[in-house]
Amino acid sequence: MKTRITELLGIRYPIIQASMAWITDAGLAAAVSAAGGLGTIGPNSGYSKITRDVKETGERLREQIRKLRSITDRPFAVNFVVGAAGLDKEFSERCIEVGIEERVPVAVVSQGNPRVHTRRLKEAGMKVIHVCASVDHAKKAEEAGVDAVVASGTEGGGHSGFDQITTFCLTPQVAGAVKIPVISGGGVGDSRGLVAALALGAEGVYMGTRFIATRECPAHPNVKQAILDCADTCTMSIRHGSPSVSNSGNRGFTEARRGSVRIIINDKIREIMAKKGGKISWEDILPEMVMPDPESGISPTLAAFIYGDLDNYFMAAGQVSGLIRDVPSCRELIERIAGEADQVMDRLNLKFEREH
Ligand SMILES: Cc1cc2nc3c(=O)[nH]c(=O)nc-3n(C[C@H](O)[C@H](O)[C@H](O)COP(=O)(O)O)c2cc1C
Repeated sequence: MKTRITELLGIRYPIIQASMAWITDAGLAAAVSAAGGLGTIGPNSGYSKITRDVKETGERLREQIRKLRSITDRPFAVNFVVGAAGLDKEFSERCIEVGIEERVPVAVVSQGNPRVHTRRLKEAGMKVIHVCASVDHAKKAEEAGVDAVVASGTEGGGHSGFDQITTFCLTPQVAGAVKIPVISGGGVGDSRGLVAALALGAEGVYMGTRFIATRECPAHPNVKQAILDCADTCTMSIRHGSPSVSNSGNRGFTEARRGSVRIIINDKIREIMAKKGGKISWEDILPEMVMPDPESGISPTLAAFIYGDLDNYFMAAGQVSGLIRDVPSCRELIERIAGEADQVMDRLNLKFEREH
C-alpha cells in the first residue's frame, strides 16, 4: 500500500509506532521498522532508572539509536518532546543535538509549539512529523514547515491535547485544513482502524497502546495483562497539568487551559475516586501515592511500567485497550493489520458494487 506517508518515510506499511516514554526502546522500534512500519524511540526508553543528568540523558538516547541500527537498517524515528522551559527544555535540547549528531532520519515532535525545533531539524536533514491535537495546531505545524502531522485524538493513551477532540472528528478536519499528509492517532488498533483512518483522510496511523501488548515491548507483563483485561469502559481521561504542580507549567498549561491524560482505571484509581467522591484530576492522584524512595531511581511511571507495580501505581493507556486480546510479535501484528485491511477494503468495495 502506497500513501504519501509511506513514500515520505520510505516504509512499506503506513503504520507508525507511537512514542511511549520508557517503553518504546530500540528493540521495539527496530522490530516495528524491520517489519515494514516506522518504529519510534521514546523519551528515556531502554532504561529502568531515572536520571536528572542532561548529558547522560543524551548518551542514553545515543546508545538506543546505535542499538536500533545494529538490529535493522530500516528508517526509524526519535520522539523529541518540545520541553518549553527548565530541565524539560535542557533534556529536549540535548536529545535534539544527539539526534542530529546521529543522523536520525525522522523526528516525531510532540507536546509543544512546532516553531521551536522544526527549522533546525529540517536543516539537519530530518523528516519532521508534528503531533497535533487541534486544527489550529496542525495549521501552525504546516506553516512551520513540518512534513506531516499526527491528528491525535482524545481516545489515545497518555497525554492528549487541551480540547479532547476525538480521532474520528479531528482527522477529517485536519485533513481538510492542511496540504501536507495527515497521520491518524488515538484509538487505532487493528485493520478496521487503519481503513477507517484512510477513509477519514489520513495517509497513515500512529499506534501506541496496541504496541504495548507486543512481545518486543519492554513493559512489564503485568502492564500487558492489564491491557488484555480491559473492557471498553476501562480507561478515563483526567485533567492534568495544574500550574501549581511542579514542572507542569513547562507544557504551557494555565489554570484555565489544562491538558488531559488517559489512564486505565485500576483498583488504585478506584480507591482514590471513592475517597474524592467520583471525579478526580492529576492533583488528587499524586498525594495518594507512596512515592518511591528518591534514592531508588524509580519514579511512579517506572514503578508501574517497568516494575509492574499496578497495586500502588497506575498506567496510561488508550480506549483501544478494550480491543486488544493478544500479545503478538510486531511483525505478526503489522502483517495481520495489513492483510486484514485488504479484506476490509474488499468488503467495502463489494458492498458498493452491489448497491450500484
Ligand atoms: C504509556 C504511554 C506513554 C506515552 N508517552 C508519550 C511520550 O513520551 N511522548 C509522546 O509524545 N506521547 C506519548 N504518549 C502518547 C502516544 O505517543 C500516542 O499519542 C498515543 O498512544 C496514541 O493513542 P493510542 O494509545 O490509542 O494508540 C504515550 C502514550 C502511552 C499510552
